[in-house]
Amino acid sequence: MSNYEKETLNAYRTSQRAQEYKRYHTKDWSWARISTWLEQKSLGRELSRYNWSNTDRLLDIPCGTGILGKILHKFPFRIFASDISPEMMTLAQEEYPVDRLDGCIQADITATGFDRESFDCIVVLGFLHRVPKDIRLAAMKEIAALSKGVVIINCSINSPIQRLKMKMLSLIWPNHIPAPCPVTLSEMISECENTGFKVVRSFMVVPLLSAKAMLVLEKKEA
Ligand SMILES: C[S@@+](CC[C@H](N)C(=O)[O-])C[C@H]1O[C@@H](n2cnc3c(N)ncnc32)[C@H](O)[C@@H]1O
Repeated sequence: MSNYEKETLNAYRTSQRAQEYKRYHTKDWSWARISTWLEQKSLGRELSRYNWSNTDRLLDIPCGTGILGKILHKFPFRIFASDISPEMMTLAQEEYPVDRLDGCIQADITATGFDRESFDCIVVLGFLHRVPKDIRLAAMKEIAALSKGVVIINCSINSPIQRLKMKMLSLIWPNHIPAPCPVTLSEMISECENTGFKVVRSFMVVPLLSAKAMLVLEKKEA
């Protein structure tokens, strides 16, 4: 089994793992909880820059336990959530506005069964820095095929300052597990451009303290 299969594809396939993930990111006194909260705020702000209507379709993929769900209560989207793990989706379901959740659908992000160009907005969180380049490119290609508008992604960034931070963290906190496949910001931007997107904004979610960058993409005209 490859590292990707062990650490990401199959890693969230028990209800115990799903519950631990949700608790760690939303209830425990952890940095993950604080950074998740800051990320939710950034996402809300980025979504607010657009004028969404109640016919717009949003895809949250991979939705995990629905960390995006709470933010979506204040936007009018029809919502589709998708993940490879039914166990994660079971916990996600309760997070979205119930009257606008059109489905939690199991799919592999690299080859979903969704209609091409059928989503006005797609959000991809907590995935691209977990997978090797071939899977990242396959996922971005699929997202580009599904999108007809805006895509928001996040990704842990590989930079000299983040490498130094990780080294120091590993000394004082040996249990710390960094993202398996961080990417340089310039590489991520050029991969987005090569898959058919214009990068309209990119920023660090919590400069220095977190390695996560958020990128707002718009599909280029064909
Ligand atoms: C770190 S979690 C992130 C979940 C959520 N977006 C968040 O920010 O909390 C990674 C998720 O990716 C899902 N996943 C892993 N490989 C996948 C694939 N090939 N297609 C779809 N989902 C996948 C896992 O089941 C897990 O729920």
